[in-house]
Amino acid sequence: MSLYRFGAASPTIAASAFIAPGARIIGNVTIGADSSIWYNCVLRGDVEAISIGARTNIQDGSVVHVSGGAAGARHPTLIGDDVLIGHLAMVHGCTIENRGFVGLGAIVMDGCVIESDGMLAAGAMLTPGKRIGARELWAGRPAKLLRLLSEADIARNRAGVAHYVELAREHKHP
Ligand SMILES: CC(C)(COP(=O)(O)OP(=O)(O)OC[C@H]1O[C@@H](n2cnc3c(N)ncnc32)[C@H](O)[C@@H]1OP(=O)(O)O)[C@@H](O)C(=O)NCCC(=O)NCCS
Repeated sequence: MSLYRFGAASPTIAASAFIAPGARIIGNVTIGADSSIWYNCVLRGDVEAISIGARTNIQDGSVVHVSGGAAGARHPTLIGDDVLIGHLAMVHGCTIENRGFVGLGAIVMDGCVIESDGMLAAGAMLTPGKRIGARELWAGRPAKLLRLLSEADIARNRAGVAHYVELAREHKHP
């Protein structure tokens, strides 16, 4: 595993989490049980903290960072339980509540919140400070509300999370 200390902070990773080869995890980063960080992700908790709950997956090539520059506001990145973050996402200084969904290639900027069961579509850009309400689907660049999610959408998103918990076990113990 490529885990790096930054200052006094080192990553804290649950024993059951899967960290794929090529992922780099730096500084003040906490990862909960059965979560998975896929190939070539970068999670850099240097100027603020990154917290990731249980059963959350962050798919290949995604970048998670924080903001805490001298001039600007400070934003940790807080990611809850059962969150799905698709391949090549950029998640920056924001909060994603339990069961939030970030589509592949999407960007989440500073101060944004995705509430429980909220969804950002593939390829979208959620601009600073925006809030996706519970069960809302936002899409586009800049992202706007597209519609409310159906029960079927929510079930599909939850199935995706469960699938990734299983898939991570297979990759951890091939
Ligand atoms: C948003 C999403 C759920 C599709 O929603 P949908 O309501 O079924 O969308 P539809 O395919 O019926 O298209 C409805 C409209 O939304 C548009 N649309 C669909 N997906 C879109 C997206 N990602 N961004 C912008 N617009 C999108 C369509 O072009 C269509 O527009 P039109 O009515 O002008 O033709 C899907 O595109 C998506 O982003 N899924 C996430 C997949 C993912 O990232 N998985 C993670 C890796 S496992």
